[in-house]
Amino acid sequence: MSLIAVLAGDGIGPEVTQAARQVLESLDLDLRFEEAPVGGAAYRAAGHPLPAETLALAARADAILFGAVGDPAFDTLERSLRPEQAILGLRKELALFANLRPARLFAGLEDASALKPEIARRIDLVIVRELNGDVYFGEKSRGTTEAGLREGRDLMRYDEAEVARIARVGFETARTRRSRLCSVDKANVLETSQLWRDVVVEVARDYPDVALSHMYVDNAAMQLVRDPGQFDVIVTGNLFGDILSDQASMCAGSIGMLPSSALDDAGKGLYEPIHGSAPDIAGQGKANPCAAILSAAMMLRHTLDRPEAADRIEAAVAAAIAAGARTADLGGTLSTQGMTDAVLAAL
Ligand code: NAI
Ligand code: MG
Repeated sequence: MSLIAVLAGDGIGPEVTQAARQVLESLDLDLRFEEAPVGGAAYRAAGHPLPAETLALAARADAILFGAVGDPAFDTLERSLRPEQAILGLRKELALFANLRPARLFAGLEDASALKPEIARRIDLVIVRELNGDVYFGEKSRGTTEAGLREGRDLMRYDEAEVARIARVGFETARTRRSRLCSVDKANVLETSQLWRDVVVEVARDYPDVALSHMYVDNAAMQLVRDPGQFDVIVTGNLFGDILSDQASMCAGSIGMLPSSALDDAGKGLYEPIHGSAPDIAGQGKANPCAAILSAAMMLRHTLDRPEAADRIEAAVAAAIAAGARTADLGGTLSTQGMTDAVLAAL
């Protein structure tokens, strides 16, 4: 029996997490689910976006099924109390440093992609994003310049161990696929990126079977749209990976289609759609649950060692899409539950 911590969070988080849970429960996998509040919902209930009990449950669980956090009602709170601190806190406290974000086009979604169909069909890549460092966790401050102007600072920082461990995840991931790794940085301008490139080249000596290339992030953003088929695995830092994966999602049809895992070095993981709480459509039953459902599949494959169940879920999503099931973001009319039912029927 595996314990799954269900942290649904805010906005569409509960709607899509409920869908993923329905799919998992339909498979009779001997899973036990325990819920805890997180994000704005937890701030409302307990005065903190990541209460100690929620963190304890996440630490105790075999895997974490996460929805999304973020609530416009709390945008003016001081940073440490904002809902988004919950996901940053979980990643840091549980040392979930490796974020795997696969992007591929499900057959039939060519019309939803922002790209021309023949280009969109070629997208099949994984972004390996570092999650515990970079400007997200560097020293931050607000102050005033000598000229009396308001000033904000975020320190971009990596050390060689942080770069080496995510580089290894990148190479290992490439080995399970087409053995090509593209490291994305901004080494023409940034010291952190020059360190990044040096360390990636050093780690590459242990992976002579993987073809390594380097690309500046601005070029990578352009190449992702021009010809995403050129990429197999991309390894990059926290900020660049955040931006490039949202961009990759539109190449694959919708941000509502992209799952992710955040793993520690023992393979324990937090699984979540890459999207946020989508306040603009929350509570309306419009959210696409596929990213959350596909995140549950990743959980079965990477942490719970049930690859056959993961394959079944992914095949069911593909079959539902191929049969024409579409939420609004994909140009259709199905509700969140309607899309979930289509996946359940395909299972
Ligand atoms: P978002 O990803 O929530 O939404 C961006 C756009 O995509 C919106 O138009 C939304 O309606 C649409 N969208 C997102 N998921 C969808 C789905 N499953 N189905 C259909 N449409 C979908 O990003 P946004 O608007 O920048 O952020 C909203 C809140 O979420 C903010 O508070 C932000 O900080 C937070 N956030 C939280 C994340 C997390 O919990 N890991 C990740 C990203 C943002
Ligand atoms: Mg993002």
